[in-house]
Amino acid sequence: MFVYEKKLQYPISIKKTDPKLAKIIISQYGGPDGELGASLRYLSQRYSVPYPEVKAILTDIGTEELGHLEMVGTIVYQLTKNLSVEEIRAAGLDQYFVDHTAGIYPASASGVPYSAASMQVKGDIIADIHEDLAAEQKARVTYDNILRFCDDPDVIDPIRFLRQREIVHFQRFGEAERTKCSGLIMAIFFYSRTPCEVRRHCQHKWLHRLAFLLTHPMRGATFAR
Ligand SMILES: [Fe+2]
Repeated sequence: MFVYEKKLQYPISIKKTDPKLAKIIISQYGGPDGELGASLRYLSQRYSVPYPEVKAILTDIGTEELGHLEMVGTIVYQLTKNLSVEEIRAAGLDQYFVDHTAGIYPASASGVPYSAASMQVKGDIIADIHEDLAAEQKARVTYDNILRFCDDPDVIDPIRFLRQREIVHFQRFGEAERTKCSGLIMAIFFYSRTPCEVRRHCQHKWLHRLAFLLTHPMRGATFAR
């Protein structure tokens, strides 16, 4: 269940319209690395996560991404408010305008409508968390690219805030990966290899001994191959 708070996570007050910039920024609304995809990805992945702490992180971040979606929609709306036909044509926004007028439609900067094919829910915590780490970095790069085209402080300020949140999310997923997934990765490493393969991978003496201890008693049963 969600409780809606009728305010933006970060204030946005853009005084000067800029349809060319809106055409770029909308990518973070409905593009492949945008906020809609991020929120759907995390809020869908959380169901099959075996650890309550990681489930809570996905719920937290997925919910915050919905707040970011609202912020990006507000930026695009304020950048395209009260445009004349000449301004729309000059900005190359005429094709979008024909289909959506000045509404906020989830699409990428190149005009491709949002697709769930741009995200994945694998049902495996290791695969999902690693996708999430990559997703946060891709979103950060998109904001970096948007900032290269911005010169209005009213736009730069909230975009910088959104970029910073991607870094915080990356760090939180990194903590989840270190505390919950690294043990699982080790377990998969040991259980998917024969004892000889494990010992070959363990170059250092103490790791060699640990690998031997972990694998030797099970050699006859689990590792029959
Ligand atoms: Fe994020």
